[in-house]
Amino acid sequence: MRHLIDPMDLSVQEIQEMLDLSNDIIANKDKYSEVCKGKKLATLFFEPSTRTRLSFEAAMMELGGNVLGFSSADSSSATKGESVHDTVQVVGCYADVIAMRHPKEGAPLLASLKSPVPIINAGDGGHYHPTQTLTDLLTIQREKGRLGNMTIGFCGDLKFGRTVHSLIKALSRYENIRYILISPKELQVPDYIRTEVFENNNIPYQQVESMDEVIGELDVLYMTRVQRERFFNEADYIRLKDTYILDTKKLKNAKEDLSILHPLPRVNEISTKVDDDPRACYFRQALNGKYVRMALIMKLLGLEVE
Ligand code: NCD
Repeated sequence: MRHLIDPMDLSVQEIQEMLDLSNDIIANKDKYSEVCKGKKLATLFFEPSTRTRLSFEAAMMELGGNVLGFSSADSSSATKGESVHDTVQVVGCYADVIAMRHPKEGAPLLASLKSPVPIINAGDGGHYHPTQTLTDLLTIQREKGRLGNMTIGFCGDLKFGRTVHSLIKALSRYENIRYILISPKELQVPDYIRTEVFENNNIPYQQVESMDEVIGELDVLYMTRVQRERFFNEADYIRLKDTYILDTKKLKNAKEDLSILHPLPRVNEISTKVDDDPRACYFRQALNGKYVRMALIMKLLGLEVE
């Protein structure tokens, strides 16, 4: 049985197969409309979500399957003190696959050790978010036609942003990518990303504080929200939250074929005026998230279509 906990649980070849399947689903939706008939997905969300939970549920419905679950810890027996081990052993009696989001790093991994069905990590604290990574990879490949040979800027909360940690880790296996990490000093990537991912693999990266200085060099700009819920005090959040605001003026210095990604939700970090710019990919990215989750559910359930 396979689980998806860490972005590195999938090889580069498996990721490519998943992206190819996602593209086929996009091109031939009807072909896949009954592949999960009789199957159930449980979404166990101990932390808030809009896109991830609803795109998982929409994905399962578009495959002809059914969904059940809860969308906050308050509405589950976690409030009575139940462990994730027990929760998944029980939910595994009702569903064929489980997507779990949890505020504690490592909770989905712990759950997978006892689960009778595949567990998908739908975000664990500030750690990883592998299905957002698949969404981001599909988006970069569809927008740019490639997954290597580019300069990528990550901007915003690189310390607590789990989508950033996951995507950097997954991209570390592709050729010739230069990383420009744009953040205030307090929100730089964690040490393990610098040492284990960049330095151990001899991957070039640069840490800067100003977006203006580097925007013209980027092929992809991955914007992120400052993760308020992971801050220890509100004053720091307020001081840092609006450090970067991408607007049409800043974009004047960017490449014509820049791709702007954002996992969403957006707060202030991208002006809504940017939404009409063809370089803004974030709503297409959110749509891609549904298709890539359809491909993932099929893969974990071992289902194929001729
Ligand atoms: C992200 C997350 O939950 O980590 N959202 C998402 O799943 N698209 C990003 C965020 O919350 O900032």
